[in-house]
Amino acid sequence: MTQLTILRYPDPRLHTVAQPVAAVDARIRALVGDMLTTMYEAQGIGLAASQVNVHEQLVVIDVSEGRDQPLVLINPEIVWSSPETQVNDEGCLSVPGVYDGVERASAIRVQALDLGGNLQTHNADGLLAVCIQHELDHLMGKVFVEYLSPLKRNRIRSKMLKQKKDDEREEAR
Ligand code: NI
Repeated sequence: MTQLTILRYPDPRLHTVAQPVAAVDARIRALVGDMLTTMYEAQGIGLAASQVNVHEQLVVIDVSEGRDQPLVLINPEIVWSSPETQVNDEGCLSVPGVYDGVERASAIRVQALDLGGNLQTHNADGLLAVCIQHELDHLMGKVFVEYLSPLKRNRIRSKMLKQKKDDEREEAR
C-alpha cells in the first residue's frame, strides 16, 4: 500500500469536479487501499479521491473508535437529507490545523457502490452524516472553508500559503 500525497488548500486541483467511476476493478481496489493507508496515516476520518488528485467519485471514511471500520463509497449520491440541520466543527486533511463550524443536514441517506460493485444504501446521522457530506463536497470540487465568511477564508488561504512556503524552505535544507 502506498501513501499518497494529499493536496492542500488552496491548490486549484481541489476544485475539479470528479467523474463517475466507470468500473469497480483492480485499479479502483488498489486506489482504495492506498487511500485508506493515506487516511489512517494522516489520522483523518475521511478522504476523497479528489484530495489525492484522482478526480473520480470515490471516498473512504472511518469514524469508528478502533479505526477498523472502513466505509468505501463509490459513485455516492445523497438521496435524502433531513430538514433539520446542525452546526459542527469540521477539519480537513487538505486544510491542516483549521477547524470551523459548518451547518449541514443532521441525517442523510446515501446510495453508493461498494468494493464489490453492489449498490448499497446507508442511513447516517451524527459524525458519519457530517463526514459523508464533507467528503461528497470534495467530489464536487468544494472544500469546507468555502462555507465560511470571505474574511475567514482569506485568512486561511494566507495561512496555508505561508505554511507551504515554510515547508518548502524546510525541505530545501
Ligand atoms: Ni476534507
